[in-house]
Amino acid sequence: MANGRSFPLLLSFLLACLAGATAKLNRSSFPEGFIFGTSSSAYQYEGGRNIDGKGPSIWDTFTHLHPEKIVDRSNGDVAIDSYHFYKEDVKTMKKMGMDAYRFSIAWTRILPNGSLSGGINKEGVKYYNNLIDELISHGVKPFVTLFHWDSPQSLEDKYGGFLSQNIIVDFEDYAEVCFKEFGDRVKHWITFNEPWSFCVAGYASGFLAPGRCSPYESGQCRVGDSSREPYIGAHHQLLAHAAAVKTYKLKYQGHQKGKIGISIVSTWFVPYSKSKSDDDTAKRALDFMYGWFMDPLVFGDYPHSMRAYVGDRLPKFTKEQSKIVKGSFDFIGLNYYTANYAQNIPFSNKVNLTYNTDARANLTGMQCWESKAKKALRGSSRRAKARRLYTGGGDEEGVGSGGAFGGDEAEVKGMGGRRRRTEEGSRGYGEERGVDVDAKERGED
Ligand SMILES: *[C@@H]1O[C@H](CO)[C@@H](O)[C@H](O)[C@H]1NC(C)=O
Ligand SMILES: *[C@@H]1O[C@H](CO)[C@@H](O)[C@H](O)[C@H]1NC(C)=O
Ligand SMILES: *[C@@H]1O[C@H](CO)[C@@H](O)[C@H](O)[C@H]1NC(C)=O
Ligand SMILES: *[C@@H]1O[C@H](CO)[C@@H](O)[C@H](O)[C@H]1NC(C)=O
Repeated sequence: MANGRSFPLLLSFLLACLAGATAKLNRSSFPEGFIFGTSSSAYQYEGGRNIDGKGPSIWDTFTHLHPEKIVDRSNGDVAIDSYHFYKEDVKTMKKMGMDAYRFSIAWTRILPNGSLSGGINKEGVKYYNNLIDELISHGVKPFVTLFHWDSPQSLEDKYGGFLSQNIIVDFEDYAEVCFKEFGDRVKHWITFNEPWSFCVAGYASGFLAPGRCSPYESGQCRVGDSSREPYIGAHHQLLAHAAAVKTYKLKYQGHQKGKIGISIVSTWFVPYSKSKSDDDTAKRALDFMYGWFMDPLVFGDYPHSMRAYVGDRLPKFTKEQSKIVKGSFDFIGLNYYTANYAQNIPFSNKVNLTYNTDARANLTGMQCWESKAKKALRGSSRRAKARRLYTGGGDEEGVGSGGAFGGDEAEVKGMGGRRRRTEEGSRGYGEERGVDVDAKERGED
C-alpha cells in the first residue's frame, strides 16, 4: 500500500466501447457486493438553466457565447430535462436493475452567485432533496459529485474561477452546504470529476469551457496561457478538494458516516517502441495525466518528471498544503477510457509552450471511440496496472460511471439530445451511461 492503508476504488468504463461484448455477462460474473450504477453530470442532464433561482455557470456562458464550438450548436439549457423528469429517470434506473446513481450537483443551483454571501437557493436544495429521496425510496444509492465542470460564472468574473486561490474557500463553503443539507442520506461524496479534463480542455487546448488557451493552441481562444493556467487550475482543484475533505472529516463524517473521494481520469500509456526513451516517455506521460493528481493525493507533491519538465510554471505546495492534500480521500474513482502509444519527442527549443507538449510525448493510436470492443477490453488490464501503481492492488468496489465530458467531440454532441421515452432512454443521450462490465480484469486480480 503506497500510503499504508487500503482504499477502495470506484472504477468506470464506457459501455459504448463494449457494444457486443456484454451478452455473456450477468451479475454472477462480478464479485459479491459489486455496485452497478449509472451516472450523469448536471450540465449534461438537468436542463432547467434559468429557473427556480439557478445562477449561470461557465458552461451556460460558453455554449451561448460560442455555439460554433459545439458540434451541432446545441447547449444544455434543456438537455434531457432531468430537472423535471427525475422521477421517470429513477424509475428507469430501477427497471434496469441499478444499485446506485452518481449525479453531480450544480453549484449555482445551490449558491447562485457561487459564494455563500450571495445566499442559498432553497429551490435548488429542494430539487436535490427530492431527487435523493426518490432514489432512496427506490433502493438506489445516491453517489454525489460536487463539481463536474460547471463553475459559477460570477466567480469566473470576479476572480477568474479556478485560476484564483479564492476558489478554495468558496468551494469549501459550497461543499459544506451540501454536506449539511444532504449528508444525512448521501454516503458517497466525490469532490471533483476528472480534474485533468477540466484543466486540459478548458485551459490548455481550450476548446471547452471556460475556453482559455494560448493563440498557438487548437481552441482558438481569445485569452489564456496554455503553459501555466492548466497547472494553476489543477493546483487549486487539488487544494479545494483537500479543503472540502478536511471539512467533511472534521465536522460531518463522525455522525454522517459517509465516505469522500475524488474521480480521476487516466489513459494507460504503452511505449511506442522497445527503446529506453519510449519506455521513459510512457512513464512520463502517465505522470502528466494520472500522477499529476495521484502523486499529490498519495505523496503530497507532483511527480519528479513534472517538476523537471515544467519547472517554475508548475505551482508549489507549501508544507502545510502538502500535508492537507496528502491522503485526503477515502476512495479514488478511476475513469478509464482507452490507452495510447507514447513516443519520445526530443527536446527542441520550443517557444510555444503548452501543457500539451510539456511531457514531450507523441501520443497515438487506440482511441476508444474509434475502436471495437476487443481493443477496449485490451485496455482494461492496463487500467488494473494503473490502479496498482498507487494502491498495490487495494480493495475494489465498482460503480459503473461514465466520466462525462471526456473531452472529445462525440460527447459534447450529446448535450442537446432530446428526451426520448422509456426503452430508448437508456441509450442515445450521449455515451455516458456506462456500467462496469469488465469481467476480464476481475479474473486477473
Ligand atoms: C450468468 O453467466 C454465467 C456464465 O458467466 C452462467 O453460468 C449463468 O447461468 C448465468 N446466469 C444467468 C441467470 O443467466
Ligand atoms: C454574491 O452576492 C453577495 C451579496 O449580494 C455579494 O456580497 C458578493 O460579492 C457576490 N459575489 C459575487 C461573486 O458576485
Ligand atoms: C508559435 O505560435 C505562433 C502563433 O501564435 C506561430 O505564428 C508561430 O509560428 C509558432 N512558433 C513555433 C516555433 O511553433
Ligand atoms: C507522432 O507520431 C506520428 C505517427 O507515428 C507521426 O506521424 C508524427 O509526425 C509524430 N509527431 C511528432 C511531433 O513527433
